Amino acid sequence: MPRKIIIDTDPGQDDAVAILLALASPELEVLALTAVAGNVPLPLTQKNARTIVQLAGHQTPVYAGCDAPLKRTLVTAEYVHGKTGLDGIPLPDPTHPLQDQHAVDYLIDTLRAHPAGTITLCPLGPLTNIATAFQRAPDIIPRVAEIVLMGGGCFEGGNITPAAEFNIYVDPEAADIVFKSGVPLVVMPLDVTHKALTSRAWVEEMRALGTPVGQAVASWTDFFERFDTAKYGSEGAPLHDPCVIAYLLEPALFTGRHINVEIETGSELTLGMTVADWWRVSGREPNAMFMGGVDRDGFYRLLTERLGRL
Ligand code: BDR
Ligand code: CA
Repeated sequence: MPRKIIIDTDPGQDDAVAILLALASPELEVLALTAVAGNVPLPLTQKNARTIVQLAGHQTPVYAGCDAPLKRTLVTAEYVHGKTGLDGIPLPDPTHPLQDQHAVDYLIDTLRAHPAGTITLCPLGPLTNIATAFQRAPDIIPRVAEIVLMGGGCFEGGNITPAAEFNIYVDPEAADIVFKSGVPLVVMPLDVTHKALTSRAWVEEMRALGTPVGQAVASWTDFFERFDTAKYGSEGAPLHDPCVIAYLLEPALFTGRHINVEIETGSELTLGMTVADWWRVSGREPNAMFMGGVDRDGFYRLLTERLGRL
C-alpha cells in the first residue's frame, strides 16, 4: 500500500523537483499539494504547483492556503527563484484547476476523514498552513503519522540570515507551533541539503532525457545554480526540498540524530534559528530526527531513475 502524503509547498524550482520525484514514485500516494506563500506570493505558488502537476501529466488536486505568515510580513526570495518563482524554460499557463476549498480546511477535513496515523505531511516551505490547521483544529495533531520537512540548519548556520534558514525565518511562530506539536518530526536542514549539490553531469543527464520534465529540471537547476554559485563559490545548486521526498523513498540515504530543536521567535538577531541540541547538552526532550548527512551519489541516482519515468 503506498504511503499517503500531502505536500505543502511554495514552488520554487527545488520544490518542483521534489513534487516531480513524489509523483514519479509508486511508493507514495500524493493526496494533494497545498500551496503557501514563501519563495513568491501565494498567487504564484499555487499557479506553479498546478503547472508542475500538469507537466507531470497527473491530476493531483492543488489547494491554495495562507497568503501571509501568522504574525509577520511575508518575506519572499525572487532573488533566488526569479520573478515567477519557477524561472527556467517557459511553461504554458496551467489549465489544471485550483480547488475551491482553502488548503487549511482541506488539511483539517482530510486528516479527520482518514484513519489516524495514515497521512504524512511534507512541508517544503514556511509552516503557515500546517500551524494554522493545528491551531484551528488541535484534534488533528495526533492523527498525523509524521511530518518530514525541509528547514533549519545547525552547523551550517542560515541562508537568509547568518542564523536562520529561509523556510523557518519566514514564519518562525508557525515553525514553533509545529516543532512543539508532539508530532514525530524528521528535519532536512541546510546541513544535509548543502551536501546535495547538483553536478554539471547530472544537469546534462536531465537535459538528455529529452522529455519535457528533463528539459524543465535542467533549466530550473541552471537558473538557481547561478545564485548559489555566486553565494557559496561551489559548483552546483543544493536541491533542498527533494531531500524530503528522497527520505520517504530511501531513508537509509540519510543520517541524523534524534534531538531537541527549538525555534527562536524573540531575538531580532537570530530570529528563526533552529536551536538544535546536536550534542544533547540542554536536557530538553528530543522532538525531532534532525538529519546531518546524505549519500549524495545515492540521492542523485534515485532522482535520475525516478524523473526518467515521467
Ligand atoms: C528553502 O527555501 C526555499 O528557497 C527553497 O525552496 C527551500 O525550501 C531552502 O532554504
Ligand atoms: Ca521550498
